[in-house]
Amino acid sequence: MNVPFVDLKIQYNSIKEEVQEAINDVLDNTAFVLGKRVFDFESNFAKLHDANFCLATNNGTSALHVALWAAGIKSGDEVIIPANTFFATAEAVALTGAKPVLVDNDEYYNIDVNQIEDKITSKTKMILPVHLYGQPANVGKIKEIADKHNLLLAEDCAQAHCAEFNGQRVGTFGVAGCFSFYPGKNLGAFGEAGGVISKDVDFGRKMKLIRDHGAEEKYHHIVMGHNYRMSGIQGAVLGVKINYIEKWTEMRRANASLYNELLAGIPQLETPKEAEFAKHVYHLYVCQVERREELMEFLSSKGIASGLHYPIPLHLLEAFKDYGYKKGEFPRVEAEASKILSLPMYPELTKEHIKYVADAIKEFYK
Ligand SMILES: Cc1ncc(COP(=O)(O)O)c(C=O)c1O
Repeated sequence: MNVPFVDLKIQYNSIKEEVQEAINDVLDNTAFVLGKRVFDFESNFAKLHDANFCLATNNGTSALHVALWAAGIKSGDEVIIPANTFFATAEAVALTGAKPVLVDNDEYYNIDVNQIEDKITSKTKMILPVHLYGQPANVGKIKEIADKHNLLLAEDCAQAHCAEFNGQRVGTFGVAGCFSFYPGKNLGAFGEAGGVISKDVDFGRKMKLIRDHGAEEKYHHIVMGHNYRMSGIQGAVLGVKINYIEKWTEMRRANASLYNELLAGIPQLETPKEAEFAKHVYHLYVCQVERREELMEFLSSKGIASGLHYPIPLHLLEAFKDYGYKKGEFPRVEAEASKILSLPMYPELTKEHIKYVADAIKEFYK
């Protein structure tokens, strides 16, 4: 049996006609950039997360950048982020000229809220937690800290579509919630795409200006901006797929439950924990394992793909060398980086697939 890490084809086949019709409509109307399909998606995505505004962008990195830019983050500022995240979170901070200030993990692979206040300086302007792997960070506590110190809060929700903190969907706890719709994400386009949601419509308008070269009216540029517009085809695809995201989320959660059940009791493996306040949407199913490289090789020999998210913590990356972080500064993230292993996870994964993966892991440790 072959178990790929993600299978985009099954999902495409399940909605092929609907999605092709939507794409054809974009082609027939030559609505290649923004257009009705994108604007409809924006309003539906805002509703899905109980926001008042959504800005569709051309990827998740630009979604983060436009949000930070509109929030006024600039050179000389500091933005607090987790040490364990995809590089783009830090990159968006760096693009504004600000410094990414890192914090170690908690037991859920998210930013440790108990270490945030130690990192606040007179330069700190924003806390930017990431709801990593699909599990909300403790954004309630983070909001309390941000309010106490008069800091902005924005959320990196790139992996957390429809995830909930105490029953509230992520993305509107602060000024902005930034999403990626990269094809492999829980809600994935057929190319690059992203978006930002906000409760604050005026803030949304600021972002909208930046998305389109600082102009509301063609050639009347009010501020400096960028070109971060979403293409019409991605809006059409996302407009179809948004109707399935809640169903696909429940399928991911059921798959995670089955993994948890079948992998329980293996002393060399720790399954992911769901925080009491969290509805985890399992963009990734991440375990900690012993003899990881050998296990990966064994799984691969059985046709099972696996991944590492992320093998090198931010502060140990070459791109980070000028910030002066040292090895040993974030012990939890560093220790976990050599043990984490992501198993195949997507909504259409079958019980047989999951059982096959679990059996292979048991066979390896036997
Ligand atoms: C946590 C996180 N932030 C930001 C991004 C950036 O999104 P994109 O790849 O759409 O630019 C990603 C994408 O992988 C991500 O996982």
